[in-house]
Amino acid sequence: MNVLILGSGGREHAFAYKIKQSTLCKNLYVAPGNSGTREIATNLQFQVNQFEDIVEAIKKFEIKMVIIGPEVPLVNGLSDYISANDEIKETIVIGPNKHASQLEGSKDFAKEFLNRHNIPTASHKTFTAENIKDAFSYIDSMIPPYVLKADGLAAGKGVLIIDNPNEAKNELTEMLLNSKFGDASKSVVVEEFLDGIELSCFVLTDGKNYKLLPSAKDYKRIGEGDTGLNTGGMGAISPPPFLTKDFMRKVEKKIIQPTIDGLMKDKITYKGFIFFGLIKVKEEPYVIEYNVRMGDPESEAVLPRIKSDLLELLYSVSKGQLNHQEVIIDNKESATVFLVSGGYPEQYEKNKEIFGLDKVSGSIVFHAGAKYEEGKVKTNGGRVIAITSMGATVKEALDKSYNSIKNISFEKMNYRGDIGFDL
Ligand code: AMP
Ligand code: GLY
Repeated sequence: MNVLILGSGGREHAFAYKIKQSTLCKNLYVAPGNSGTREIATNLQFQVNQFEDIVEAIKKFEIKMVIIGPEVPLVNGLSDYISANDEIKETIVIGPNKHASQLEGSKDFAKEFLNRHNIPTASHKTFTAENIKDAFSYIDSMIPPYVLKADGLAAGKGVLIIDNPNEAKNELTEMLLNSKFGDASKSVVVEEFLDGIELSCFVLTDGKNYKLLPSAKDYKRIGEGDTGLNTGGMGAISPPPFLTKDFMRKVEKKIIQPTIDGLMKDKITYKGFIFFGLIKVKEEPYVIEYNVRMGDPESEAVLPRIKSDLLELLYSVSKGQLNHQEVIIDNKESATVFLVSGGYPEQYEKNKEIFGLDKVSGSIVFHAGAKYEEGKVKTNGGRVIAITSMGATVKEALDKSYNSIKNISFEKMNYRGDIGFDL
């Protein structure tokens, strides 16, 4: 079948890499893609929010399946848009509809869902400009630090964690009354701070059945030792070393199964990936957030560990027959290290030629903010290249990735030399 992947990051290159391995895949397209997807697929020149262009491409290239990488088109209802078009309504869309995507698109929707189905999460209240006084009283009743979350999508920036109550009230005022995060902060979730260690769990679901995919831990801060500003992700390892079988059983019993059951009870159709952002407090798992897509950089570490034919799995999702499938996970562990532009996540320059990618062996090179221009691969974003390696242990995988990085260079290239430092 012909497959279209939407997105342009390392996650989408990792999807393309896996889908390309499938014997079921005839022609593979990525829109808009990057210099990496260009090598294994046909890049199409439109963005993920150009719904009409997407529909045209589905018709023109006889696309049978669309895999939606990032959250914005999901939350904007791309899945519904495609199925509402008579000519192409048979197209398989991997990614939930607009309603289900509210699990990521509205923090309040997600919290209500979690509470309705008794899934462990931080206690919270949601406020708007109208009841900001109640929000102040709520803050006064809480033990610091205070967690403030813009209800809507805010490109990963909408969460503030603040120690001082007055500062928390000021920030809340900025969010609710002065549109600090635009429309996304018209409504704000104020919640209890959970002190623990974070991990990312992933499932693929057809809405009734689900399959566990490998779990991962990502490294969000720019600086070594987890210091400095937050980024889109500087690296990831899979599996997280502290994830025991016992703990994973708890995650399934208390979080994953109740989530799938909750979707069915609420009559929410869901076909695609669910990303559980979890926090382990002592020995108990809590949900920090749902994402309605795979993670980035987690995908670059997780997808290469799936030995099964990913396209076959996705096809059975569309048929509601995921229960007939088996997901075989590689025993090898994986580690991904991101090469980023100097200055990122603040100001940085683009258009730097990237050298040495062809010298890498023993690792997978996933392109992210990288483009092909005049015969050269050049930087085109903050997070540029993800290097993934597999090994008997995460440690071995990390050593391989760091060895591979020695071959690669571009002006002002930066990366964290300590991914997995806390193992
Ligand atoms: P989110 O956008 O919901 O993933 O939040 C961004 C980050 O804020 C998370 O990855 C956590 O590190 C942190 N965070 C969010 N909610 C909480 C919480 N209730 N307690 C502690 N940390 C949190
Ligand atoms: N790695 C976090 C995310 O994809 O949102």
